[in-house]
Amino acid sequence: MDNLIKKLETKQAQLGVIGLGYVGLPLAIGYAKAGFKVVGFELDENKIAQLMRGESYIIDVSSEDVKAAVDAGLLVATSDFSKMAECDSANICVPTPLGKTRDPDISYIQAAVREIAPRLHRGMLIILESTTYPGTTEEVILPLLSEQGLEVGQDFFLAFSPERVDPGNPDFHTINIPKVVGGVTPNCTKAASTLYAQVMETIVPVSSVRVAETVKLLENTFRSVNIGLVNEIALMCDALEIDVWEVIQGAATKPFGFMPFYPGPGLGGHCIPIDPFYLSWKAKLAGSEARFIELAGQVNGSMPKHVVSLVTRGLNDRSKSVRGSKVLVVGVAYKGGIDDVRESPALDIMGMLSDLGADVSWYDPHVSELRTNHPAHRLDDWSVDAIGEFDAAVIVTTHAETQHELLVEAGPVIIDTRNALKGIENENIVRL
Ligand SMILES: NC(=O)c1ccc[n+]([C@@H]2O[C@H](COP(=O)([O-])OP(=O)(O)OC[C@H]3O[C@@H](n4cnc5c(N)ncnc54)[C@H](O)[C@@H]3O)[C@@H](O)[C@H]2O)c1
Repeated sequence: MDNLIKKLETKQAQLGVIGLGYVGLPLAIGYAKAGFKVVGFELDENKIAQLMRGESYIIDVSSEDVKAAVDAGLLVATSDFSKMAECDSANICVPTPLGKTRDPDISYIQAAVREIAPRLHRGMLIILESTTYPGTTEEVILPLLSEQGLEVGQDFFLAFSPERVDPGNPDFHTINIPKVVGGVTPNCTKAASTLYAQVMETIVPVSSVRVAETVKLLENTFRSVNIGLVNEIALMCDALEIDVWEVIQGAATKPFGFMPFYPGPGLGGHCIPIDPFYLSWKAKLAGSEARFIELAGQVNGSMPKHVVSLVTRGLNDRSKSVRGSKVLVVGVAYKGGIDDVRESPALDIMGMLSDLGADVSWYDPHVSELRTNHPAHRLDDWSVDAIGEFDAAVIVTTHAETQHELLVEAGPVIIDTRNALKGIENENIVRL
């Protein structure tokens, strides 16, 4: 333990990061910038090659930083797990999706741990950062590592630390987001906290791994439930012919006890639509029902369908049908400012419109390629002439650089699910 702490404090430790995606790459670069030698383990050979050429593929990490780390010999990306034997620590940052039956799929975590286990050595620190259900670290990872005959808290150290990175957020990143840490034993918490303290500004130790695991799930459940609530209010306001955006604006003037959330076309990304179901799955096993989570999932999951009904309504008011209409989906990333389309509601909306017979196109300055199960054309030309070819346009995701006003000039029916055209009064606009 003392040796590990010393190595961490003097930056002599060599740090392993498993999974170099949205979470792992910023962390690896953060470590390298602090002066640590980092080995990034990744299965995707394209990502490895890109990194070793000094190129970033993650919005929040600059290619300059990658190149500087690689050139200085501080970052090596590899698929060769034998290098794990030389690492003093391993942060696991692999995906945790839902399976086909919407149950947690922790197979990526298990695969990563199976690579670590045979290379586990005295004084090694393992930290899980992938979002998962409470109990994963102690019930799944610990037994796999303990098979090696080493004792946790004495011979090696195991902790969970939720990753809270918000891709595309210019104000908060890996280094200045407070880092919650929970170890299997107090020594484990101390070792993990010492590592993070070399790089991050604020460390928040908690009393157990399960608390740390559940912190992350509470945060994302909080968002899912509040978004679900405001989406339901939006549906009610639609029926009552009240402008929900103005209602929220009014409520947000209350200086205490209210926090604005905004309705939208549905949830997207790797976290908010998925994480709460990790909690509800585990709670169910313990006989506890997660009613808010299920309800928020239902309401949020119904939003793409509601958006399609608004398209139908808008076209109908112009005596047009969805079948045969040219419909443009504006913004397909799951949120503004990023290029990530995972779980994006745009995909559902495009699929439903296509099923109804619409001729679907999409525009997104951040996304160059989109794999869809339905035919969809990419629009490159953001001009009044090009937009004027469409019967309807659906604003799904707003990027700062998209001039949404051109839609008004061009004249299609506009379904504005983000209040992007706030303050503009025009008969072609149908607001969520
Ligand atoms: N993206 C976010 O905004 C965010 C925020 C907080 C938490 N998280 C959580 O962090 C975890 C990682 O998410 P992400 O968005 O970085 O995913 P990602 O898909 O961007 O990156 C994961 C990477 O791990 C690699 N990988 C998979 N299995 C591997 C293995 N066995 N060995 C080595 N590499 C492997 C993949 O090739 C991929 O590059 C998830 O649990 C997610 O819920 C994500």
